Amino acid sequence: MKLSGKVAIVTGGSRGIGAAIARRLAADGAQLALIYRSNGPAADATVQAIRAAGGEAEAFRADVADEAAVESAMRAVVARFGRVDALINNAGIFESEPVGRISRQSFQNQLLTNAWSVLASTQAALDHFPASGGAIVNVSSSLAVRPEPQTVSYSASKATVDSLTLGCAIELGARGIRVNAVAPAVTRTDMTAGLPADYLESETRLTPLGRLAEPQDIAGAVAFLCSDDARWITGRSILVDGGRV
Ligand SMILES: NC(=O)c1ccc[n+]([C@@H]2O[C@H](COP(=O)([O-])OP(=O)(O)OC[C@H]3O[C@@H](n4cnc5c(N)ncnc54)[C@H](OP(=O)(O)O)[C@@H]3O)[C@@H](O)[C@H]2O)c1
Repeated sequence: MKLSGKVAIVTGGSRGIGAAIARRLAADGAQLALIYRSNGPAADATVQAIRAAGGEAEAFRADVADEAAVESAMRAVVARFGRVDALINNAGIFESEPVGRISRQSFQNQLLTNAWSVLASTQAALDHFPASGGAIVNVSSSLAVRPEPQTVSYSASKATVDSLTLGCAIELGARGIRVNAVAPAVTRTDMTAGLPADYLESETRLTPLGRLAEPQDIAGAVAFLCSDDARWITGRSILVDGGRV
């Protein structure tokens, strides 16, 4: 198995894309630490699913926007698993507002939860990677490069994730740590469940592969970027969008 013997952390691993990533990395042989914000039952369900399939997993609670909480969770992860080989910065929130009504609070929430969290987790994990290095995969969005109406703050937060990905890759290459991002378009999770049906239909129509993404579609790309098959890829943000953009 491609990731056997590795320890992987997935933020936002309780639900949606993060849960699919956690399950996939575990199926590839990694031991999994899930970080979640508040949905304990969902985190437990993902941990149980991994264990039922023969894998090893544990959930840790932390708000990824709060660096002290992240550092404390990271210490707990290392006490349990010993080190970090892969960090998946997936946790995120989406708030939709039209220009003219965007509040400082909403802008700040999305910047802190979607972008500052990437730096906070990366910095907290840094000294726990082995000397041989490892992989960081950030979950960006197609909206980073193609914002849509009423997504200005969210899109800017994800463009920041892309820039952080490149910047961290340049700086951490010397430590053998590769840093990449995946950028999904609309993916069927709780985050998109409330979007209007006509929007989802038009997204499906405009996607060359003819459907919306399932979380597992994104997880496969993340597993590749974590694996040794991607050993010469760093600093990239890869659209995983069925051709939508
Ligand atoms: N779905 C899409 O169409 C889509 C498209 C492009 C990019 N993305 C990105 O993909 C990532 C996952 O999205 P999703 O659709 O799977 O979302 P989701 O179904 O809403 O799940 C969000 C996950 O993030 C966690 N989370 C949120 N805020 C957190 C915080 N402050 N601290 C710790 N954990 C936090 C949640 O934990 P709890 O369960 O504890 O609440 C949950 O595990 C996000 O970064 C999102 O921006 C999604």
